[in-house]
Amino acid sequence: MRKILVLNGPNLSRLGQREPHLYGADTLGDIVRKLKAQAAVLGARIDAVQSDEEGVLVSRIIASPGVYDGIIFNPGAYTHTSVALRDALQAVPVPCIEVHLSNTAAREEFRQTSLTAAACRGQIMGFGARGYALALKGLMEVLSSDRVRKQCKR
Ligand code: DQA
Repeated sequence: MRKILVLNGPNLSRLGQREPHLYGADTLGDIVRKLKAQAAVLGARIDAVQSDEEGVLVSRIIASPGVYDGIIFNPGAYTHTSVALRDALQAVPVPCIEVHLSNTAAREEFRQTSLTAAACRGQIMGFGARGYALALKGLMEVLSSDRVRKQCKR
């Protein structure tokens, strides 16, 4: 059974009410509930944490080795500003998939740079809430191909 940490950054607790034309009608609770059901089918267990505070997100990432096999992370606005989150992701061997509900490449210029993406295995954006499900699928594939690669090296 894989253990996956689903991290959501600032203002994502407002999903469902917050700019639904950009972020959709699903609440974060809806997203996590669907993800847990999908994880059960794929043989994974999910812990979901949302925080508006950068330091809390850093601490959860730093504490992830040995506890979690992978991370799915929507850093919200910290995506575009946080060297600390990028450093935290780079400091741990736990693979992370970055998720954005909106296609940030097609939005304001300040959203077009992700400081965190370079420290992630991959990024999924522009698919709304469905992006989290795609990230979970992708992460499970990354985890099993990493295991096969390790076995081949032995
Ligand atoms: C977001 C995109 C960010 O630019 C924004 O600050 C968010 C949400 C997304 O999921 O599309 O809070 O991460």
